[in-house]
Amino acid sequence: MAEIRRVGVVGAGLMGSGIAEVCARAGLDVIVSEASPAAMEAGRERIAKSLARGVRSGKLSEQDRDAAQGRMRFTTDLGDFADRELVVEAVAESEQVKTEVFTTLDKVVTDPEAIFASNTSSIPIMKLGMATQRPANVIGIHFFNPVPVLKLVELVPSLLTSQETALRARGFAAGQLRKEVITAQDRAGFVVNSLLIPYLLSAIRMMESGYASAGDIDQGMVLGCAHPMGPLQLTDLIGLDTTKAIAESMYEEFKEPLYSPPPLLLRMVDAGLLGKKSGRGFYDYSG
Ligand code: 3HC
Repeated sequence: MAEIRRVGVVGAGLMGSGIAEVCARAGLDVIVSEASPAAMEAGRERIAKSLARGVRSGKLSEQDRDAAQGRMRFTTDLGDFADRELVVEAVAESEQVKTEVFTTLDKVVTDPEAIFASNTSSIPIMKLGMATQRPANVIGIHFFNPVPVLKLVELVPSLLTSQETALRARGFAAGQLRKEVITAQDRAGFVVNSLLIPYLLSAIRMMESGYASAGDIDQGMVLGCAHPMGPLQLTDLIGLDTTKAIAESMYEEFKEPLYSPPPLLLRMVDAGLLGKKSGRGFYDYSG
C-alpha cells in the first residue's frame, strides 16, 4: 500500500500546528492552511516554538529542525491542496465549519484515492463523509494535545469508510508518524473523550458548587492518582471552548446528563476565559 508523501493540514491552532509538526518531523511534505494571514502567522510561530523546545530538550538536532521547517509551507488558500494525498482537518469543533471544509476539499483535491481525515473528537465522521462525493475516503484520525508528546491516535472509520482507507490511514498514523493506534466506532467522544469529558465536567461542577478549590481538586488527582495534571488544569490546556463544544456534541448524541456542560463552563466561555490559549481559564497564565 502506497505510503503518504504529501499531506495537508487545515487549521493551525493548537491541534493543527501539532499535527503539521509531527508530519514534517516524520519526513512528509506538509501544507498548512489557515483562514487569515494573522492566524497563519500565529500557527507558524507556534510550530517554531515547539520545534525550538525539542532542540532545547535535546530531542531534535538543529539540522532536523531546519529540515522539518523546510518541509512545511503555509497558505490561506485551500486551492493549494490540489495534489495532497492525505488531508487532516483540524479546524474548530463546529459541524458547520467542518462540513464546509470537507465540501471544499472534495472540489479541490484531484487524487481520487486521497484520504480526507478529521481530527474531530465528537462530530460524526459520517456527517463529514456525506459532505463529500467520496465518503469511502473519509475517516477520523484523532490526535491528543500536545500532539508532539502524546503517543495516541484514535482511528474512526464511518459506516461508509472503505477498508483500504482505514488500512492506509493506520499505516500513516502508526507506520509513518509512529503513533500508537486504537480504533473506535463513529460515536461522539470515541474512547478517550467518552471517559475524559464526564470527568472534566464533574471537576468543574465540584468547583462550581464550592465543594473544593481548583487547586485542591487538581492536587487531589495529581498526587492521589498520579495524573500528569489535574482536571481543571487539563481543561485549561484543551481550551474551555473546545471542552464545551465536545460536551455539547456528546450531549446531543446521547442525551446523557453527565455530558451536559455546567453553567460555570458556559459563563467562562462567554467571558472569553478559554484557558491557557487566552491567558486565563481556571488559572491565570498572563504572567
Ligand atoms: N510541544 C512539544 N514538546 C512538548 C510540549 C509541546 N507543546 N509540551 C511539553 N513538551 C515536552 C517537553 O519538551 C518535555 O520534554 P523533555 O522531557 O524531553 O524535556 C516533556 O514534553 C515534558 O514537558 P514539561 O517538562 O514542560 O512538562 P510536564 O512534564 O509537566 O508535561 C505535559 C507537560 C506533556 C503537557 C503533561 O503534563 C501531560 O501529558 N499532561 C496531560 C495532557 C493530556 O491529558 N492531554 C490529552 C488532552 S485530551 C485531547 O487532546 C483530546 C481532545 O479531543 C480534547
